[in-house]
Amino acid sequence: MKRVFLGVTGASGAVYAKDLITRLPEHGCELHLCITSDALININLELQKNYQSAEDFLSDIGADATLHDYKNFAAPVSSGSFKVDSYIVAPASMGFVGRAAGGISSNLIERCADVAMKERRKLVILFREMPLNLIHLENLTLLTRAGAVILPAAPSFYHNPTKIDELISFVTGKIFDIIEIEHNLYKRWGEKPESV
Ligand SMILES: Cc1cc2nc3c(=O)[nH]c(=O)nc-3n(C[C@H](O)[C@H](O)[C@H](O)COP(=O)(O)O)c2cc1C
Repeated sequence: MKRVFLGVTGASGAVYAKDLITRLPEHGCELHLCITSDALININLELQKNYQSAEDFLSDIGADATLHDYKNFAAPVSSGSFKVDSYIVAPASMGFVGRAAGGISSNLIERCADVAMKERRKLVILFREMPLNLIHLENLTLLTRAGAVILPAAPSFYHNPTKIDELISFVTGKIFDIIEIEHNLYKRWGEKPESV
């Protein structure tokens, strides 16, 4: 069983977090989750809910995950000695990107990103911002140099999506490709349709 850490920050794109929270356990992963207070604001705005806490959100969607408080540096995931196969931050705010690039572990998600890079483990960062300034670009470059895999929250259209869900699952599928989870979340280019 793969152990995966997912950090959710206050960028737009709560739907990506919700999809990952649902699908990672469905795909056999032990999920460790952390949600910032600003992420909860966006979850409420974008999912049109009024959750009072991250716990409320998780129980409403029936999540099978261990939730860690984003201020709890004593959580097991805070240490490199706790074995985690892959770390994902999705969606990642540019504030997170800047702090992670600067080595500033001011909350548990930033600490986990720092741990992933120091332990040379897989770290996937799904950022969302538009347009990007030089500071964003330089921070993303620095994180790439330190071993992170950077994904823009930018689904493709070559698989002819007709629903928002297909755009979301394409992005989840790209993340699964990177952390090496088998899936059927999007149709790969060059593959024959299932009916053929
Ligand atoms: C409606 C809304 C949308 C936002 N969208 C983004 C975004 O797409 N990208 C981003 O970097 N910040 C965005 N922000 C700003 C972040 O929430 C803000 O920088 C916050 O401090 C991030 O905190 P965190 O990284 O600790 O979660 C948004 C804020 C709000 C209220």
